Amino acid sequence: MTQRILITGANRGIGLEMTRRALARGDVVSAACRTPDKAAALDELAAAHGDALTIIGLEARSEASVQAAAAALAAPLDLVVANAGTMNARGGLTDPGHTEENIADSLMTNIAGVFFTARHFLAHLKAGAEARAAGIIPRIAVISSQMGSSERAGTTAPIYRATKAAATNLARSMALELADDGIAVGAWHPGWVQTDMGGAGAAITAEVSAAALLQRFDALTMATSGVFETYEGEPLPF
Ligand SMILES: NC(=O)c1ccc[n+]([C@@H]2O[C@H](COP(=O)([O-])OP(=O)(O)OC[C@H]3O[C@@H](n4cnc5c(N)ncnc54)[C@H](OP(=O)(O)O)[C@@H]3O)[C@@H](O)[C@H]2O)c1
Repeated sequence: MTQRILITGANRGIGLEMTRRALARGDVVSAACRTPDKAAALDELAAAHGDALTIIGLEARSEASVQAAAAALAAPLDLVVANAGTMNARGGLTDPGHTEENIADSLMTNIAGVFFTARHFLAHLKAGAEARAAGIIPRIAVISSQMGSSERAGTTAPIYRATKAAATNLARSMALELADDGIAVGAWHPGWVQTDMGGAGAAITAEVSAAALLQRFDALTMATSGVFETYEGEPLPF
């Protein structure tokens, strides 16, 4: 059955490939990005897929922006993918990239952005009764990172790691809070992916990551809600 999916950070990288992949298999996608008038890759997909793709403006740091995006979307959703994320500085404590402004950007995008997205699209997930009758569980997928695993702590990008630890923690909390609503939540490490963030030397392409992630989202059930795993389905320590 066709799924109705919202993806944030959909204009490039893993978000763009998840959008492309979901459309190719026949899903209906709301692709959220900060600057829809500069989203050339999404425009190309819209030309090819017509009504199956809606491009919407969404700045994850701003609750007003997320709220407005949610208000503009009338249709129910089966899956919300909180993918938008940023890594502003890759060094350790002495990296000058760890400015107040960059830290605030990371905290607001990677943590608050996930929270705002889940909060304001919750009503859309609850509205998907028809899909529920067909066996589709409404789900929230948080794109986190193994760099947020405290058991796999490292010496690089401590602020990014902390924000991703929080994003995974948020997913766990939401899984508990939304269990009675029949909404499942998971957190995923997408792999080390060849994107602007991952760099050209990363291990896998965005296509491989996106295809595997969509399969993992489909495999999520109420019994496995709260999971933290890799794009290949390997459990990750918190
Ligand atoms: N690549 C990797 O190896 C890797 C590994 C682990 C986890 N991840 C996670 O995977 C997700 C996608 O990463 P990626 O590799 O595709 O990164 P990317 O190529 O840098 O793309 C990041 C996406 O997030 C959007 N974004 C950033 N800040 C935003 C904000 N405040 N509001 C709305 N959108 C915002 C960007 O939009 P603009 O174009 O407007 O900036 C862009 O669409 C992120 O959450 C990242 O942390 C990536």
